[in-house]
Amino acid sequence: VRLGVLASGRGSNLQAIIEAIEQRALSAEIAVVLSNKQEALALERARKHGAPAVWLDPKPFAGRPDSREAYDRAVHEVLQKHEVDLVLLAGYMKIVTAVLVSAYENRMMNIHPSLLPSFPGLDVQKKAIEHGCKIAGCTVHFVTEGVDEGPIIIQAAVPIAEGDTAETLAARILEHEHRIYPRAIQLYAEGRLRVEGRRVVVAEAGT
Ligand code: GRF
Repeated sequence: VRLGVLASGRGSNLQAIIEAIEQRALSAEIAVVLSNKQEALALERARKHGAPAVWLDPKPFAGRPDSREAYDRAVHEVLQKHEVDLVLLAGYMKIVTAVLVSAYENRMMNIHPSLLPSFPGLDVQKKAIEHGCKIAGCTVHFVTEGVDEGPIIIQAAVPIAEGDTAETLAARILEHEHRIYPRAIQLYAEGRLRVEGRRVVVAEAGT
């Protein structure tokens, strides 16, 4: 499976995927990493792994009514050029439009640091603490047009401790992100994920 990773920041999830590939726990390869941010550490991590790293500047697209769609068409071209099968959003801070969602239906995943459908959006670790939740977590899901809304593939639960701050909780959740994202990709690579309406059905190994 050829992976196209979209990332805007530090890229620790990308790094976990790279390591899973290097340790042969994941039968996939990084076809391309694309970022809307030139300074994204994710691009650096891709280069170190020997994978193509592309910065696609959003600026030339700004100011037109269809700027987000136009940008996504350019992203799509890059993904096609690198023959990407599965698109992974990994700390990608742009909302993807129907242009990409429809081109990669059930072939685009996102990782989100909450137990969806609770707490979509941003700053969700802080929101879970402020809400008084006792359990937080993370979710890998297929991407649909609604932000953080698509069919859930894997979740991990992470207890919230007394005295947790958004930072300590985020760090604890992140360890689980690094575990479940490669796992979800491997399930995809093994052809074991089937989307049935809202639900993702995971087939047993070897069936
Ligand atoms: C992660 O917490 C992920 O769940 C969220 O953005 C963060 C990205 O972290 N979507 P990194 O860039 O992978 O380190």
